Amino acid sequence: MWYGRWGGARELNDVFLRVCRGRADGRVPVWFMRQAGRYQPEYRELRRRHSLLDICRQPSLCATVTKLPVEQLGVDAAILFSDIMVPLEPMGVRFEIREGVGPVVAEPLRDARAVAALRTLEPERDVPFVLETVERLKAELDVPLIGFSGAPFTLASYLVEGGPSRDQRETKKLMYGRPDVWHALLSTLTGAMAAYLTAQVRAGAAAVQVFDSWAGALAPRDYDRYVRPHMERLFEALRPLGVPRILFSANGGALLERFGAVGADVVSVDWRVPLDVARRRLGGVPLQGNLDPVALLAPWDEIARQVEAILAEGSGGPHIFNLGHGVLPETDPAVLKRVVELVHGKGSG
Ligand code: CP3
Repeated sequence: MWYGRWGGARELNDVFLRVCRGRADGRVPVWFMRQAGRYQPEYRELRRRHSLLDICRQPSLCATVTKLPVEQLGVDAAILFSDIMVPLEPMGVRFEIREGVGPVVAEPLRDARAVAALRTLEPERDVPFVLETVERLKAELDVPLIGFSGAPFTLASYLVEGGPSRDQRETKKLMYGRPDVWHALLSTLTGAMAAYLTAQVRAGAAAVQVFDSWAGALAPRDYDRYVRPHMERLFEALRPLGVPRILFSANGGALLERFGAVGADVVSVDWRVPLDVARRRLGGVPLQGNLDPVALLAPWDEIARQVEAILAEGSGGPHIFNLGHGVLPETDPAVLKRVVELVHGKGSG
């Protein structure tokens, strides 16, 4: 029992945190990546008047958007509404987030000078709105709040490419051609994200998720040489905070053992690797995932079949139900709610 902002006693639903810590004794918790977003009519309405970054910078708006899916869907965790690019702006990166595309960086970083020009992130000074949002949410939510950041590789990929990229050509050219500049860039981003996530936890985040969305583009050998040392340093820096550290990647099946070895407490896997297979490869690490977001567009019987299959595949150890990637804008909110009920054992297949 704890006491919320209105002074009344509230029960904190901590099943998500217990499973993150390796206890698989009760029900399976569920939340969805991009559970706040364009599939919600309320979000679309808000976006007519405010840009994505506007919402991120206004704590009351941002907290409202973060809470909406918790209230509507009954999920077991909230994730801070923000974007992986938000902390890069005070570091001196100019970008916009283009509808249907993603982040587009005005001047891609490709040399030592551009990397050296990145400013040190001081979260209390540079992103006070994020910390204020987290503080509000901590007082108002009755489920744990997940803070997040991009992983150094995924952030570097946006910075070097200038936008989303299919083959990470410029990123790899820098990585192979100028390893000194590459490691300086990843080192700077690692330090910044460690500070950023630490500040989120101090403000009240109960867990953190590091999004390495593009790591799947790397050969395991290149991951070991160019990325892994930085991930180890990041997760080590977060360890003293004592909160669960979740690592997400899409298309990262070939790197699964590595994700387990860099220090993550929970590994989020996508639909390309069944959870029982992931469990064998990772040992006892709690798993998160792994419904294909596209499957949510299928008829209900098919969705239910897939959800049940994932619950069965995940049942050999601690499992947090989620998607393998973010909710698609064309998803029906009622379907998401039904999935939550099914996972909670209250719905019908
Ligand atoms: O509910 C949540 O999951 C929290 C909010 C969240 C957003 N971005 C808001 C957002 C989170 C966790 C992110 C992380 C993020 N941002 C990642 C890592 C996860 C992933 O999807 O791989 C990445 C790669 C980004 C960069 C980014 N920002 C992309 C690829 C896009 C989509 C562009 C598009 O229009 O499809 C964005 C924009 C963005 N960030 C939206 C949301 C809700 C789209 C909606 C909008 O523009 O309002």
